[in-house]
Amino acid sequence: MIIHISNMYKFYGLKNNRVSALKHISLDIASGEMLSIMGPSGSGKSTLMNILGCLDRPTSGVYEFKGRDISNLNDNELAVLRNQYIGFVFQNFNLLSRSTALANVELPMVYAGIAAGKRHNIARELLDVVGLKDRMNHYPNELSGGQKQRVAIARALVNHPAVLLADEPTGNLDTRSGTEVIKLFDTLNSIGVTVVVVTHDSDVAVQTRRIVYIRDGEIVSDVSGSSIKKDQKILPYEIRPGVLGFDKPHEWNGRDGF
Ligand SMILES: Nc1ncnc2c1ncn2[C@@H]1O[C@H](COP(=O)(O)OP(=O)(O)O)[C@@H](O)[C@H]1O
Ligand SMILES: [Mg+2]
Repeated sequence: MIIHISNMYKFYGLKNNRVSALKHISLDIASGEMLSIMGPSGSGKSTLMNILGCLDRPTSGVYEFKGRDISNLNDNELAVLRNQYIGFVFQNFNLLSRSTALANVELPMVYAGIAAGKRHNIARELLDVVGLKDRMNHYPNELSGGQKQRVAIARALVNHPAVLLADEPTGNLDTRSGTEVIKLFDTLNSIGVTVVVVTHDSDVAVQTRRIVYIRDGEIVSDVSGSSIKKDQKILPYEIRPGVLGFDKPHEWNGRDGF
C-alpha cells in the first residue's frame, strides 16, 4: 500500500464550534491505483485530499505513506514528503495569469532551484506530454478551460509524483474537456502514477476503477472492479509513456514550500 489510513478523524475549530470533518476513516490505496472520491458538498472530500497530500494533518488516527507513519510529522517534514511524492490539481487551475503556460509549469522548478535551461526543457517536454506543445507561450486567458487544466497537470508532474491528487479537476470544464482530462489521468495512471480524483460527476467517476463515497465525513461505500463500467475511448492526443522517466529514481527534490 502506498497509502494506509486507519480510524482517522479530523476536527476543525474549538469546543463549541468544533466540526467533525472526517470520522473513523479507513482507506488503503495500492500503488498504481486510480480511484474517485464522491460525496455531497461539505462531506469532507477536500479535507481528506488535503490530508492525503500532506497539506494538513489528521486530528487522530493512523496515516502511513509508503509504510511510514506520517501523522506526527512537522510542517517541514510534510513539505519534503509532498515535494518528493505528491502532485496536486485543483478545480480552479491555480495558474498565474501573468505567466505563460511554460512559465507556469516552470514555477515549481524555479522554487526548487533548477537551472533555467534544464527547467525550460522539462517544462517543454511536460507540455508536449499533455498535448500543448503549440500553446507553450500562451497566457492562461488565451487558453480554454481544458487547456488550462492540462497546463496545471503538466505543472503537477514536474516532481515525478508517485501520487496525483485532483480535487474536482473537471468542475469548471465542459463534458468534452473533462473527459480529456480524465483520459490524461488514465494515461498517467497506466505509466505508474497513483491517481485520486474527487468528483461530483458520476460520468467522471465511472472512468476510474474504484469509487469511494463519503457522506458526513464517513466512508459509506467503496466499490471497485467489474461493477464499474469502463469507457475505452482513446486519447485525442498522443502520450509517450516513459518520457517522464517515472521508472527512474527521483532526479531532484523540490525545496520546502512549493
Ligand atoms: N478550515 C476549515 N475550518 C473549519 N471548518 C472547515 C474547514 N475546512 C472545511 N471545513 C468544514 O469541514 C466540512 C468538510 O469540508 P470539505 O472537506 O471542504 O468538504 P467537501 O470538499 O466535500 O465539500 C464542512 O462542514 C466544512 O464546512
Ligand atoms: Mg471540496
